[in-house]
Amino acid sequence: MDYSTSSHQVVESNDSAMPVKTIQARHLLSINDLSVDEIMLILETAEAMKEIGSRAIKKVPTLRGKTIVNLFYEPSTRTRTSFEIAEKRLSADTLNISTVGSSVTKGETLIDTARNLEAMAPDMIILRHPSSGACHQLARVCRARIVNAGDGMHEHPTQALLDAFTILAHHGRIKGLKVAIIGDLLHSRVARSNLLLLKLLGAEVCLCGPPTLIPPSVSDFGVRSTTSIEDAVTDADVIMMLRIQKERMRGHFVSSLREYFNVFGLTSARVERAKSNVIIMHPGPINRGVEIASEVADGTRSVMLEQVSNGVAVRMAVLYLLAGSGETI
Ligand code: CP
Repeated sequence: MDYSTSSHQVVESNDSAMPVKTIQARHLLSINDLSVDEIMLILETAEAMKEIGSRAIKKVPTLRGKTIVNLFYEPSTRTRTSFEIAEKRLSADTLNISTVGSSVTKGETLIDTARNLEAMAPDMIILRHPSSGACHQLARVCRARIVNAGDGMHEHPTQALLDAFTILAHHGRIKGLKVAIIGDLLHSRVARSNLLLLKLLGAEVCLCGPPTLIPPSVSDFGVRSTTSIEDAVTDADVIMMLRIQKERMRGHFVSSLREYFNVFGLTSARVERAKSNVIIMHPGPINRGVEIASEVADGTRSVMLEQVSNGVAVRMAVLYLLAGSGETI
């Protein structure tokens, strides 16, 4: 399928003309919920959604009458904002609930919170939660469709989708690309979702980090791992940097952040080892001078802000396709 010449049109006003193609899963909890064709359909649909974002009036009535709750138990800048913008561009009614200011602070459990929200009949719940598997728990008790916006150390599927969209925009393909994912792999849900998606689409993935931050299970994924950043970035088409997730660490995994930067930080000299058209990615938030030098983060090969822009289009595509999954709406 050629994504650069998508003929997929987003329906603006006539629900009966919704595309026949959709995705099977009721919820988006993991990249494992999607087939290769469904991933490609999301990316193709995102192209059409991106066009909406370039209009003077960035709004279509596609999800008019649908109610979407953004339920965030962890801080977020990019994901929460881009979901909300995506929902508004599709004309859904949106509601934001975060831990602070909700009855979660009074001890209400996730399931009780979800059941009470369900009583108000939302169509979708977008959940970010510190516990791995929280989205699966919610999907078991909720009628609403659940989208995983990051659950603990498990997955962040829409981040991997927007990363794939960004890679395709620059390289035109994913199959056969050399992708280096570098940093705190142990605690990263972004790494897991990307690993699943990139493997599915045929990329050659190399994981790199300190031995304490490479999970023993990487061998199950059939990818190469190394503790040498010089090795990982050599001839890379894509370098994806990850943040040290201090908030998820129990104990000491690196001796010091300065030492970490010296050994694993992405510097201009290290980027020189990659292909000349390499793109530098990071899901954000970045820690300058820890995993990446400022000159690289702000340099010409960095596509970090494009990732953020693409997040809106990809999340619009996910919401649109999920709203129509398994039934005619
Ligand atoms: N990439 C990402 O998940 O960023 P936020 O934590 O700001 O949402």
